[in-house]
Amino acid sequence: MSPVIRPRRLRTTPAMRRLVAETSLEPRHLVLPMFVADGIDEPVPISSMPGVVQHTMDSLRGAAAEAVAAGVGGLMLFGVPRAEDKDATGSGADAEDGILNRALRTLADDLGDSTVLMADTCLDEFTDHGHCGVVDGRGRVDNDETLERYVSMSLAQARAGAHLLGPSGMMDGQVATIRAALDAEGFTDTGILAYAAKYASAFYGPFREAVGSSLQGDRRTYQQDAANRLEALREVRLDLEEGADIVMVKPAMSYLDIVRDVAEMSDVPVAAYQISGEYSMISAAAERGWIDRDAAILESLTGIRRAGASIVLTYWAAEVAQRLS
Ligand code: PBG
Repeated sequence: MSPVIRPRRLRTTPAMRRLVAETSLEPRHLVLPMFVADGIDEPVPISSMPGVVQHTMDSLRGAAAEAVAAGVGGLMLFGVPRAEDKDATGSGADAEDGILNRALRTLADDLGDSTVLMADTCLDEFTDHGHCGVVDGRGRVDNDETLERYVSMSLAQARAGAHLLGPSGMMDGQVATIRAALDAEGFTDTGILAYAAKYASAFYGPFREAVGSSLQGDRRTYQQDAANRLEALREVRLDLEEGADIVMVKPAMSYLDIVRDVAEMSDVPVAAYQISGEYSMISAAAERGWIDRDAAILESLTGIRRAGASIVLTYWAAEVAQRLS
């Protein structure tokens, strides 16, 4: 009689499962996105993202230090200006005293090279219309005018001490343009984490509350259509050619096939962003007692890693890093 093949043998004990696990999740793999708001005295809870807040400068410093102590791989900062400081070109984005640039300087001073400090390089938090770029007379986002604003914003963020810039607006040529400007100003060590394949997603919903976005309409003329896979590979190839140091896929959970494809084609590290709506979905189901919160969080992050992401941006980064260490 032929022996029964028994794969279950390798699942018999926790120690055995640990021995044969193919994917690992370590604190260094996780990057914590953080929001810092201008003109507030107390952290402001984001109702659609329970446990996430808009920080004051002080609370940001505390939470950043805690996350770094827990071992996260890095921090990704988003600035939330006061509503009255928003304008058509997003002047607050490159102003030296703009909220994001002040926060970068403060954290760069506090943390030095003990973590990797990243910044969202995009205008949407700073524009009164909420688009990621400059809007022309016909209401369209003008690619090349926007690139000029990204250059100015990038230089401000590099001067403020960011290690990695995260251009997230999906403008054509944004990586090459920013790279050239950084190099020309001597910021050759400042890297670019390119939001390379970024889809127009309903799962960004809670982020709009998080940054007090004023967007009317959608971003479908610059972010990608959920139906498309080849288009993502093309976007990633272009960003690699343009000099991206890390390429990112976003969102993560509805696009795990894209994460896998990108991991196979990329010779630079691949990141994936578990975005606001993914956080909210798991949080809401867990609040209702419908799923086991901690297990669902670990499973979702392990899945993103298994798909091929070496780096995962997640609002649970500090909590999970703490749990893992
Ligand atoms: C653009 C940006 C967005 C997110 C990160 N960078 C919003 C968007 O493109 O609409 C979304 C992050 C999230 O939903 O968690 N500045």
